[in-house]
Amino acid sequence: MPKERSAENLPWVEKYRPDTLNDVYGQNEVVDTVRKFVHDGKLPHLLFYGPPGTGKTSTILALAKEIYGSNFKNMVLELNASDDRGIEVVRNQIKNFASTMQIFSKGYKLIILDEADAMTNVAQNALRRIIEKYTKNTRFCILANYAHKLNPALLSRCTRFRFSPLNELSIKENISKVIIKEHLNVGDPALNSLLKLSKGDMRKALNVLQACKAASEGEVTQDMIYESVGAPHPKDIETILDSVLKDDWSSAISTFKKIKQLKGLALIDLLQGFIEILDNFELQPKARIYILKHLAEIEYAISRGGNEKVQSSASIGVIKRALEIETSK
Ligand SMILES: Nc1ncnc2c1ncn2[C@@H]1O[C@H](COP(=O)(O)OP(=O)(O)O)[C@@H](O)[C@H]1O
Ligand SMILES: [Mg+2]
Repeated sequence: MPKERSAENLPWVEKYRPDTLNDVYGQNEVVDTVRKFVHDGKLPHLLFYGPPGTGKTSTILALAKEIYGSNFKNMVLELNASDDRGIEVVRNQIKNFASTMQIFSKGYKLIILDEADAMTNVAQNALRRIIEKYTKNTRFCILANYAHKLNPALLSRCTRFRFSPLNELSIKENISKVIIKEHLNVGDPALNSLLKLSKGDMRKALNVLQACKAASEGEVTQDMIYESVGAPHPKDIETILDSVLKDDWSSAISTFKKIKQLKGLALIDLLQGFIEILDNFELQPKARIYILKHLAEIEYAISRGGNEKVQSSASIGVIKRALEIETSK
């Protein structure tokens, strides 16, 4: 019983972390290739890179479980390279681990180094030398978000695998499993919004769903999903857009301001919402080009610290002007 209770308290990203490679969704090429390496007994040093929540950590842990089984603890060392204790600590841990005699087992030990792209160039150089030194009985798996932040000398020692953002179907398969296990009731609109808003990040999908469950005890609505992600609801975007298109200047500004405040939205979220809705609008090319060009400029201005109020008014101006272009002959 106590064990069950502790599983209940786990974050779902841990509770539903894949146990085996078969539970890793949407990364078939990577999974097939690394399995083949193991099967052939020729595991190279690995680099897994790609955006968060795509299964990098899960894949290497599942692979390690398949290789080592109950001997996992003795054979695998997990380190976080972004730990600010520096390369010296990492070096010592690796040294202790790699040089310990393997009495009960043969084969390579595995060192997993997470967030390696957070390391300084000097630390990466040190790491490269460490890898060389221990290659005889150790394999490294380096995890990173960006390969280009890694030193070429380090890259050249690893076989690289890119983890792409997961497609909606892969997220759906996993999430549907969780929905059943957690006895949730999630309608299609809510599920589709969850898949869209997760943007290929399984961790995000699971976290959002768990937050919704905590707030609702079972029934998960589309509104809850948007709220939990902190993304604007399409209905709110439509209300604003409608007012900007139809109302006079001052009413449009006041609707804009009111919904922004009420829903706690930032202009940058609204702009993305506008662009998505505009994708489904029939527009003449010149009106579409005008609006996209100018909304892009506003987005850039915000990212450079432009004033929110000024940029909000500018957005309204751009949309109103695009409507004029659209309706003029
Ligand atoms: N491809 C995947 N298949 C199944 N679950 C996944 C996948 N990617 C991520 N997850 C889920 O999201 C959580 C975080 O994944 P993780 O492997 O740590 O991602 P990354 O290391 O790429 O940031 C995992 O615990 C798992 O529950
Ligand atoms: Mg990870």
